[in-house]
Amino acid sequence: LARPDAPQDLAGRHVLISAGGTREALDPVRFLGNRSSGKQGYALARTAAARGARVTLVAANTALAAPAGVDVVPVSSTAELREALLAAAPEADAVVMAAAVADFRPAAYATGKIKKKDDAEPEPLALVRNPDILAELSAHRARAGQLVVGFAAETDDVLAHGRAKLARKGCDLLVVNEVGETKTFGAESSEAVVLGADGSETPVPYGPKEGLAHTVWDLVAARLG
Ligand code: CTP
Ligand code: CA
Repeated sequence: LARPDAPQDLAGRHVLISAGGTREALDPVRFLGNRSSGKQGYALARTAAARGARVTLVAANTALAAPAGVDVVPVSSTAELREALLAAAPEADAVVMAAAVADFRPAAYATGKIKKKDDAEPEPLALVRNPDILAELSAHRARAGQLVVGFAAETDDVLAHGRAKLARKGCDLLVVNEVGETKTFGAESSEAVVLGADGSETPVPYGPKEGLAHTVWDLVAARLG
């Protein structure tokens, strides 16, 4: 899977990657979450390490083996993910946000298990917005010249949504995936377009997540110079 002749073009670089999906606790036994497996983030970590980078992988609720030589920081909630990323970002030449971040969290956490009431319908669930970590990392670069990369899973007008999101987030590169019921989430393979803030557009054919990961590192390495 890894290129046997992987270029050592990330040697001496430190990359920070988020993977998996955040969970927002409702009570001690329940959460709001998403179906991200973490496979794309782990593929990014493996390939960056193969290309010589020092790798920090902040992993939200993944059930995957830690790649050899990669520093894994486990987190669960969006607040924990944000804290771990902000702590590690000042050392990173590039930050890649492959994690699926919960947009909202419950407005309140119940310290005891939420119980049904006889014959009563449940109360509506009040939610509040989570911070946008990618936008924050992009707006306040923790290090001069740091590259910030986001991922977006879109349906319908995928490229138009992607371009708008790239501008809104302020990142350097945005990997846009088209999703459907069986596409991307938990799948071994993907198909994507990488949009650059410089106007570049790099299509990535359907194939293993390692292939997409290598394309991301090609673009990052070229921009780091
Ligand atoms: N992201 C983030 N913090 C959030 C939400 C998303 O850092 N609170 C990051 C994701 O890790 C991903 C990118 O932003 O790299 C795009 O995520 P996406 O969910 O597509 O963006 P949103 O702005 O949440 O847009 P949408 O309303 O389409 O979900
Ligand atoms: Ca979102």
